[in-house]
Amino acid sequence: VTTVASETALLSLLGEQPADHGLPAVFYGADDVHRLDLERIWRSSWVFAAHSCELRNQGDATVLQFGADSFILVRGGEDVVRAFRNTCRHRGSRILDRPATGLKALVCPYHQWTYSTSGRLLGCGGMERERTIQRESLGLHEVRVVEVGGLLFLAAGDDAPSIEQARSELERALRPQGLESAKVAARRTYRVRANWKLIWENNRECWHCHVGHPEYIRSNFDTALPSDPELGRRTSEINGNLSALGLELDHDEAGLAEFPTPDRWWSATRTPTTAGFVSESLDGRAVAPLMGDYAEADVGVLRARMLPNFWCHASSDHAVTTRLLPLGPGLTQVQVTWLVDAAATKGRDYELSRLLPFWQSTSEQDWTLCERAQRGVLDAGYEPGPLSPGREYNVIALLDWYRRALGNTSQSS
Ligand code: FES
Ligand SMILES: [Fe+2]
Repeated sequence: VTTVASETALLSLLGEQPADHGLPAVFYGADDVHRLDLERIWRSSWVFAAHSCELRNQGDATVLQFGADSFILVRGGEDVVRAFRNTCRHRGSRILDRPATGLKALVCPYHQWTYSTSGRLLGCGGMERERTIQRESLGLHEVRVVEVGGLLFLAAGDDAPSIEQARSELERALRPQGLESAKVAARRTYRVRANWKLIWENNRECWHCHVGHPEYIRSNFDTALPSDPELGRRTSEINGNLSALGLELDHDEAGLAEFPTPDRWWSATRTPTTAGFVSESLDGRAVAPLMGDYAEADVGVLRARMLPNFWCHASSDHAVTTRLLPLGPGLTQVQVTWLVDAAATKGRDYELSRLLPFWQSTSEQDWTLCERAQRGVLDAGYEPGPLSPGREYNVIALLDWYRRALGNTSQSS
């Protein structure tokens, strides 16, 4: 547990930082900060856990972990996905290590205490004959889980903010994408040797894109000049295709949409792609059949994000989600998942060799940049430097969110 003394010192150090500078090294590498991040942010937020299509059938389960806390998600009785703490009510053993299908029950590998997929303790090896125990009070500890447009978010603690507004806004944006009727086509899981905040900082600016992402920059206007005439032309072209769905682009300016903002830890925006790019693929052509409600391929890219651990880019034919989970101050598990329509067949409707390269290379380029940044900020010579209001406004906003989230009680100051 973070000591009160170190917590006070850390919060006052954070409070002294100019808002338009990066954070001191301790925020990227210290165990005390990692514990405080887990306590104040990760255990008090809605954390992206999985896609509902990964738990399509009763008895499908998956696991995830941040810090030392592990959670089981399982589709159980009444076809409901529930989330439980992955620790046995007997002597605490981890119960599930990896995704599973067709589970009739959750059985602890240690002494085989058995729980229903709704978390009830069904059997404890006859222990109730030796001593009085209340089986009904020894069910798995349940945590809240909500589904948002085919995405499952869990809240480890009771103090997570209401997700209702985020849910309705994201559901509206995600509806045409049809993630509920998608399937996982591929997944890459990385152990990125960088603090989770550095990975977000990198995600929140595209200054590095010109040099860092030669493939990515060809498909969008993130690095375009505001006066680029192609931006207006593509916006009206794509809006023409979207109008049949009652949709339109809502980010038609050059550069990244503003996120986060003081009142939003989630957002979704649809942005235009450049001429020739109907999908975020290397050659700009579709790489899979249309998803969801789309009748046209050329509908821009739907981008969604939720702090502290989720973002996604969805083209008309495929979606790519990114999930961050902190494993230590300098280590983050990053899971990148490619989704296509559930009816699409590999080899006939899509090929991984065309589906993956765009986001696999862009993601891996980012992890390399983040690991390089991590090594640099832990150098004794590192000093937080100034951020560009024109190109790093979202990094400034992210750090503002972080300061308020960590301070928690001093959010208004
Ligand atoms: S710790 Fe799970 S059955 Fe003993
Ligand atoms: Fe990047």
